[in-house]
Amino acid sequence: MGTNGRLQGKVAIVTGAGSGIGRGAAIVLAQEGAELVVVNDKNIDAGKETERLIKEEGGEATFVRADVRSEVEVSNILACAEEIYGGLDIMFANAGVTDYRDLVDMSRDDIARIIDINLMGSLLCAKYAIPAMKKRGGGSIVFCSSVLNRIGFPQAVVYGATKAGQVGAVYALASEVGKDNIRVNCISPGTTNTPMVDRDPGALKDPVAYKKMMAKQNPLGRIAEPEDIGKAVAWISSDEASFITGQDLYIDGGFTSYKRLC
Ligand SMILES: NC(=O)c1ccc[n+]([C@@H]2O[C@H](COP(=O)([O-])OP(=O)(O)OC[C@H]3O[C@@H](n4cnc5c(N)ncnc54)[C@H](O)[C@@H]3O)[C@@H](O)[C@H]2O)c1
Repeated sequence: MGTNGRLQGKVAIVTGAGSGIGRGAAIVLAQEGAELVVVNDKNIDAGKETERLIKEEGGEATFVRADVRSEVEVSNILACAEEIYGGLDIMFANAGVTDYRDLVDMSRDDIARIIDINLMGSLLCAKYAIPAMKKRGGGSIVFCSSVLNRIGFPQAVVYGATKAGQVGAVYALASEVGKDNIRVNCISPGTTNTPMVDRDPGALKDPVAYKKMMAKQNPLGRIAEPEDIGKAVAWISSDEASFITGQDLYIDGGFTSYKRLC
C-alpha cells in the first residue's frame, strides 16, 4: 500500500463509506496508515466493497452496517472499533443525503429525514466518539458539511440548514472538548464527482454536461474527486494539523470566493 504513514497507528471510522466521498476518504485514510471501520447503511455490498478495496491495497478495514440515525447502531460502531482495533482516533461523520425540492413541496417527514441523517447523524457520531477518544488522550472529529452551508441555492433549504447546523455544532463542540485534546472541524466540499451529484436534478438528463458546467463555476476549472476531499480529511486529522480546531475548511476549487459574471 502506498502510504505516507501520516496516520500510522491511528484508528478511524468513516460513515457513508459505501460510496463517493466516504469511500474515497476511507481509502486515503488507509493509505496514510490508519485502520478503518467503514460504515454504510442499507447498501451492505457497497460497504463491503470499500473494505475489499482497502484490503486489496494492503490496508486494514472492517465493514460495519449502521444507520447513523440510530443511537444504538452508532454506539455499536464505536464498540466494534474498540473491540477490533482497540480504540478510536478519527471520526469522519460523512454520511449525508440530498433531496432537492422547494420547501413548500416537502412534508414534515421529508424535512425531518434530512435533518435526522445529516445533522442528528453527525451529532450522534460525535457523541459516541468523544468517550472513546478521551481514553486515547485525544482525537479528531470531522463533519462533512458543504459549500451550501453558506451559498444559497434554490431547493436546498433543508440541506443547507443541516450543513450550516453542522458548522454551528463544530464551533461549540470544539470549545467543549478542546480540554480533552479532541479537535473538531468541518470540511465543506464543493461539487464532487460522486453518485450524489449524478442524482442532482440538473444532472439527470446529461450528467457529463452538468459536471462540465459545474466545473466552470470554479477558478480551478474542475470539480473535486473524492480523493481531493479524502486528502483534506487525512491532513486535518493528522498531527500536522494539531493546532487546528473549530474550523470550516472549504475544499471547493475556489467556488465560494469566486465572483461569477454569468
Ligand atoms: N458530492 C458532492 O458534490 C458533495 C458536496 C458537498 C458535500 N457533500 C457531502 O458529502 C457527503 C457524502 O456525499 P457523497 O456525494 O459521497 O454521497 P453518496 O450518495 O455518493 O454517498 C453517501 C453514502 O452515505 C450512505 N448513507 C446515506 N444515509 C445513511 C445513513 N442514514 N446511515 C449511514 N450511511 C448512510 C449511502 O448509502 C452512501 O454510501 C454528504 O454528507 C454530502 O452532503 C457532497
